[in-house]
Amino acid sequence: MEPIGDPQLSDDQFDKLARIVHHDSGIVLTPAKRGLLAARLSRRLRALRLSDYGAYCDRLAGAGGTEERRHLLSAITTNVTAFFREGHHFEELAAKVLPKLIASAKAGGRMRLWSAACSSGEEAYSIAITLLEAFPDAARHDVRLLATDIDPAMIARAEAGRYRTADLRPIGTRRLLRFFTSEGETCTARAGLRQIMRFAELNLHADWPFSGRFDVIFCRNVVIYFDAGMRQRLWLRFARLIAPGGHLFIGHSERLDGPAARCFDLAGATHYRRNSTPPPPWS
Ligand SMILES: C[S@@+](CC[C@H](N)C(=O)[O-])C[C@H]1O[C@@H](n2cnc3c(N)ncnc32)[C@H](O)[C@@H]1O
Repeated sequence: MEPIGDPQLSDDQFDKLARIVHHDSGIVLTPAKRGLLAARLSRRLRALRLSDYGAYCDRLAGAGGTEERRHLLSAITTNVTAFFREGHHFEELAAKVLPKLIASAKAGGRMRLWSAACSSGEEAYSIAITLLEAFPDAARHDVRLLATDIDPAMIARAEAGRYRTADLRPIGTRRLLRFFTSEGETCTARAGLRQIMRFAELNLHADWPFSGRFDVIFCRNVVIYFDAGMRQRLWLRFARLIAPGGHLFIGHSERLDGPAARCFDLAGATHYRRNSTPPPPWS
């Protein structure tokens, strides 16, 4: 069908789409986000050559709906990020967290770090740079940095590791030359930087495929989009997944609240250390 003019998003259609987004991702779309949703989805409607949101809702409900739900999430997620965003976290990682983990890895221990909701990868590469500066031969030890996001388009970009040179300005020239190769307007992460990294699509509200615990989790600037129940359930899952003494970094406007809060001690600004309190059962 050919598109005709700007399609209107009715209250019913907005509610239907908001329910799907919340169910699949935990992201809450308040009525104030209606214009944003319509603007973001209008491109998708054009790509699918659909004339209105009714047809789009039908598509979500029909065969191929599961795949389309991924596109819906991709359209609605906010992917703003930057290298060394909230720089104090990387300073604390280098000064307070990594020394012990590096000593343990050098003695044969396992080190696992996770950039959960990594968007296009800038956060994960900032962690990798911080780690490799302190531990250049990390790749020869049992060290892994996992970078995940719900948005497959973001994971593809993170995995490609190619950024505009202008966006790499916060890392400085020394790090740029050491960790990236330059191709004019863009730069690509060197293999040495990526060696310890793994990329995967992962929904924070779905099942996780992990067999072991994590020493460090960065989960920043994503729970602000979730409701309190989804957020607190995620904190509980982190309390189970982070090894005692391990660290959780969250976004500057976020807070660790609910039943999991007692399992963590404040170690810095929006930086928490897992203590020995057992996590309470699911309520
Ligand atoms: C604003 S970005 C934050 C990126 C990075 N952590 C930072 O602080 O710069 C939020 C990211 O969360 C992702 N996201 C939203 N809901 C998610 C979910 N349920 N599971 C995993 N990632 C999710 C989005 O796709 C987006 O890339």
